[in-house]
Amino acid sequence: MKVVNTKEELNEQLTEWRHEGDHIALVPTMGNLHAGHISLIELARENAERVVVSIFVNPTQFGEDEDFEQYPRTLEKDTRRLKTISADLIFVPSIETIYPFGLEYATTVSVPRITENLCGKSRPGHFDGVTSVVARLFGIVRPDVAVFGQKDYQQQLAIRHMALDLNLPIKIISGETVRDDDGLALSSRNQYLDDDERAKAPLLYETLSEVGDGLQSGARNFAELETESADKLAAAGFAVDYFAIRRAQNLEIPNRDCDELVILVAAKLGNARLIDNIVVTI
Ligand code: PAJ
Repeated sequence: MKVVNTKEELNEQLTEWRHEGDHIALVPTMGNLHAGHISLIELARENAERVVVSIFVNPTQFGEDEDFEQYPRTLEKDTRRLKTISADLIFVPSIETIYPFGLEYATTVSVPRITENLCGKSRPGHFDGVTSVVARLFGIVRPDVAVFGQKDYQQQLAIRHMALDLNLPIKIISGETVRDDDGLALSSRNQYLDDDERAKAPLLYETLSEVGDGLQSGARNFAELETESADKLAAAGFAVDYFAIRRAQNLEIPNRDCDELVILVAAKLGNARLIDNIVVTI
């Protein structure tokens, strides 16, 4: 498995693979890899002969008061881990490679509507940063397939929309959320939790699951369920950003007949901003 930093080295390898008729899958990450990332790489492997994993902590998707500086950077450990699984190449670009004209001259790709609410509201500019960097990675790697996690539901929806709307010839695949035994969705940000907070954190998934069961049994009092759940999390010590029941397809507010729902939550516990969601198909 190769680790490459430049577009030139990357192209050399990609050209060779394409020449052999191999399809290429891309799994974009910010590193600090955990079993959630690994599951996406395995899914990528099922969908293409060659798997490229990118590792780039993208500054443009972090707000000014967010954890860009603090974000865990563990390249050596990540590389060792990737060597033991089915990745073929790790692309670790510099900031100049991704933003050749500098951040001030960087083109922005912005997906409206889908990114305006939920995390988009509390993290202004975040999704523009995400779609813009993913568009750049798509342009550099030109993958046949790209894999994203359902864990970041709004993110994968925005990227899917971008790819369709811009006619990018890339198949977008979503991988299921990988969780710890107690239900907490794996995330690099879980390491910001102290022991007490870590013990409380599974309540997020528990609450999502309870509401999911309620919806399956016919409950349609969406607003009430949202408020009750947010109150319950707040009482347990979470600073709740949102608890929302939305249309799975576009994150709009659902009506009673909607049969593809997603329940999404974002809440801070100590220094960690945690997000999670479950899709409910009635
Ligand atoms: P990062 O947080 O490193 O996540 C990389 C990919 O792993 C994303 O598609 C994310 O949804 C997925 N992922 C994270 N936790 C997961 C879990 N518990 N189970 C399954 N998949 C999980 O998301 C980003 O990086 C960035 O925004 C990026 C897309 C790379 C753009 O910079």
